Amino acid sequence: MADAAPASMLTPDGRVVMISGASRGIGLAIARKLASEGYLLSLGLRSPARYNSDGFDPATTFIHEFDAAEPATALAWVDATVARFGRIDGLINNAGILRQIDFDSGDEALLDALWAINVKAPFRLIRHALPHLAKGGNGRIINIASTDGKRYRPGVSIGYTMSKHAVVALTHAARFAGHDHGVRATALCPGAVDTDLIAGIPGVTPRQDRIDPATIAQTIGFLLRLPNSSAVAELVMNTRLETWI
Ligand SMILES: NC(=O)c1ccc[n+]([C@@H]2O[C@H](COP(=O)([O-])OP(=O)(O)OC[C@H]3O[C@@H](n4cnc5c(N)ncnc54)[C@H](OP(=O)(O)O)[C@@H]3O)[C@@H](O)[C@H]2O)c1
Repeated sequence: MADAAPASMLTPDGRVVMISGASRGIGLAIARKLASEGYLLSLGLRSPARYNSDGFDPATTFIHEFDAAEPATALAWVDATVARFGRIDGLINNAGILRQIDFDSGDEALLDALWAINVKAPFRLIRHALPHLAKGGNGRIINIASTDGKRYRPGVSIGYTMSKHAVVALTHAARFAGHDHGVRATALCPGAVDTDLIAGIPGVTPRQDRIDPATIAQTIGFLLRLPNSSAVAELVMNTRLETWI
């Protein structure tokens, strides 16, 4: 017989969660999982017209444009979410890109793109969503960082690694900004996940050893249920054996 969840765990009932980059990959897996658990969802998509509504109930799923490279779309998405549901209880900063830039390859435009999409956009969304997250008393911020946010591994894009370290730093700042109002922030740091992001990259973890996006989604579901007294600042999930992570 399955154990019942402890009474202290939060439930999805009435909680509104924003997810950036929910069109495919990890973001779509998270959205599908949270929809199945009964959350009210606000999905931020670069191309809402290409949204595949399979598995989503229009009564509980709100779709809005969010382009991480377009600053104005961040506030517009937050405002539209509050207009639709009246509250925000969770923000999952998932949208991200991987571009190869090292000391001997790649140009500064790639570095700027990594910074704009992986770091500045989550910063902006947290800034705009924080007052709403603070109102409910149990706000949650989950930033999808990476094992590349915890160490440098030779061969991995230096630009990407720098951006993911910054996401971890951003998460720690968010922990302090929201703590007194019940906001808890987590940097989820997975290793190789089987999505388009890493397809075709030389030296990447073989497909059969990669993390299933559904496992990330399951983990997010767990993190969202933890009470304020059980904060997880960082959660590293690796598929490789490495020292410390
Ligand atoms: N895959 C891995 O091995 C791995 C490991 C650790 C961490 N991560 C992180 O997990 C997150 C999700 O990655 P993934 O593996 O699911 O990648 P993915 O399959 O390539 O999906 C990336 C998502 O981000 C969205 N996106 C990209 N640029 C955007 C922009 N300018 N504005 C709004 N959305 C944008 C994409 O939207 P479109 O469909 O419109 O392009 C898509 O929904 C990223 O932050 C990534 O760094 C991935």
